[in-house]
Amino acid sequence: MVEIIQISDLHYGSEFREDLFENIISYIDEIRPDIVICTGDIVHKGRVVQFKNVVQYIKRIKDITKFMAVPGNHDAKNSGLVFFEKIIGPRRSRVVLNEKDAIIVGVCSAKDDIASGEIGDEQLDWLARQFNRNLEDRVIALHHHLIPIPMSGQKFTTVRDAGEILEFTNLFEIDLVLMGHRHVPHAYTISWKNSSSTTFLYCGTSTSNKVRADDSPSFNHIFLNEGDLEVYIVNSINLEKSLLVERKEHHTEFIRPRKTRIEHLLASEVWDE
Ligand SMILES: [Fe+2]
Repeated sequence: MVEIIQISDLHYGSEFREDLFENIISYIDEIRPDIVICTGDIVHKGRVVQFKNVVQYIKRIKDITKFMAVPGNHDAKNSGLVFFEKIIGPRRSRVVLNEKDAIIVGVCSAKDDIASGEIGDEQLDWLARQFNRNLEDRVIALHHHLIPIPMSGQKFTTVRDAGEILEFTNLFEIDLVLMGHRHVPHAYTISWKNSSSTTFLYCGTSTSNKVRADDSPSFNHIFLNEGDLEVYIVNSINLEKSLLVERKEHHTEFIRPRKTRIEHLLASEVWDE
């Protein structure tokens, strides 16, 4: 079994909350996951000084366990991708956890000064070459969404070539895809015809006030074991855990993390009549 903490959208440089980061560090230090994965927007404006200042926080995670990050559109602002690679790590990377029978590959969906995402043929080709080992649990991490999610805003949400990656997850029997971007925790599971399942998991903003609606800053605590999956949303403010997804033998229980738009509408005074 591989145990993962997914954090996302730290937004260092704008509404970043040090107290929330401290909460996350104490949580990580206690459970000692196999790896911490950050799905982008580590800094807010891609500024060199922001990368230089945030690295002290990243180092504290690295002192506890393995760490992987993919860039987000905010990291890519102001030619920030160059400095992401210099200071944080490569924009695409692979971690193999042999003893856990797991492989995690991070790809870059962000482009200089463009809010929307794209993987591109060259990177897709690279991605395929990363999964040539027959490891049981397979995970992809990227910043932008592959499938839109409700109440997450309309702006530049999905990667332009999302279809290629969706098909990839089927063909390569990817268990889990981790994403960030719109600061909304959510999950979908697709059960494919070849009887494998892929869960598409979205993380909230873990350390900033940039939440949507009445959400709280949060991160994801993930257990993946030979295709069985359990995901908890952890509230960054009080570290309360709630179950988001339970997938066993390709049967999925999905607990909706927030009210739907129609529930909000029906509960509003406008609809009282
Ligand atoms: Fe973000």
